[in-house]
Amino acid sequence: MKKVEYAHTKKKVNRLGFGSWQLGNTEFWGYMSVEDGVQLVKHAIKKGINFFDTAPGYASGMSETIIGMAIKDQRDRVVINTKFGHTADGETDFSVFSLRKQISESLERLQTDYIDSLLLHNPGFDILEGKTLHVQELKKLKEEGLIRAFGVSIDTKEEFDTVLDHLEIDVIEILFNVFFQDVSESFKKARAKGISLIAKVPLDSGWLTGKYDEFSEFEGIRMRWDDETIDRRAKFVRKCKDITQSEDLTPYAMQFILSYDEITTVIPGIKNVDQLRDHLEYVKEALSPETKEAFIKLYNEEIKDNPLPW
Ligand SMILES: NC(=O)c1ccc[n+]([C@@H]2O[C@H](COP(=O)([O-])OP(=O)(O)OC[C@H]3O[C@@H](n4cnc5c(N)ncnc54)[C@H](OP(=O)(O)O)[C@@H]3O)[C@@H](O)[C@H]2O)c1
Repeated sequence: MKKVEYAHTKKKVNRLGFGSWQLGNTEFWGYMSVEDGVQLVKHAIKKGINFFDTAPGYASGMSETIIGMAIKDQRDRVVINTKFGHTADGETDFSVFSLRKQISESLERLQTDYIDSLLLHNPGFDILEGKTLHVQELKKLKEEGLIRAFGVSIDTKEEFDTVLDHLEIDVIEILFNVFFQDVSESFKKARAKGISLIAKVPLDSGWLTGKYDEFSEFEGIRMRWDDETIDRRAKFVRKCKDITQSEDLTPYAMQFILSYDEITTVIPGIKNVDQLRDHLEYVKEALSPETKEAFIKLYNEEIKDNPLPW
């Protein structure tokens, strides 16, 4: 798998990364034991995946803890991207003064003495517009070696464009997939500024695998959709299946994202070894230009003017 430079850290990352919200996260994503989580991360590293996206708030700190347990003898082999702003206790705290405290708690859970990249985890517009002291403080933390790069994780094109216009940062984590394409218009601008891009939610929380329809029942974090949203998503999934002539959309959804060179790494949430094995296979192939065009057309004609909620 191709490795690319990451966020001015002098480290390279695999373009297939690992979304770790699911690790040990029984509340939102179904049961996963700590031991299974540790084995899954170790297995991913063995297979060449070296980028892990986590956050203090994922599974109340357990996602970071599991990664820490799995990497402790092989720290230099991996790139850890964690976040700031939503704590392991479930509090929201973006105060500049709590940066050091939150980072030190993450370092303890991760069993390491540095974080490869730290992202502000869905901050407000005052921060995105550069009206606060966050970047100044993050630069200091970088000079001290506690973090090696920093950036933001955001959800909308408006947020993306605001960051590109106002903040001097190394990396942006964006919501980008077949159903959420509007951010792609700003990819070139991000690249011109030397910013690494992480693509989150590549499978639309599972819809872009093709495994759901309008009759599916949801648990955990996926209970957020109302009936109308489920019906629309089901319709778009059917259209994607017509385009690909396949019931399994996962490879196409992943390859669509990787077809954009500006995407540094894509981070599907991976629940088990079978899903991991599939992803490792899918990234070996490229998406055909015809399928890519058809996905773009579907988005432009049916979603762009009436965006789906996350
Ligand atoms: N604000 C933020 O910064 C933010 C927000 C969201 C996500 N993220 C990051 O982005 C990562 C990815 O987003 P996400 O997990 O929300 O959504 P996602 O990657 O679009 O979907 C994850 C779900 O897709 C299914 N899946 C994954 N690989 C599969 C495969 N090979 N075959 C079949 N099903 C597969 C699994 O469903 P099952 O559970 O049914 O097995 C998994 O739980 C997260 O883990 C997290 O690291 C960050």
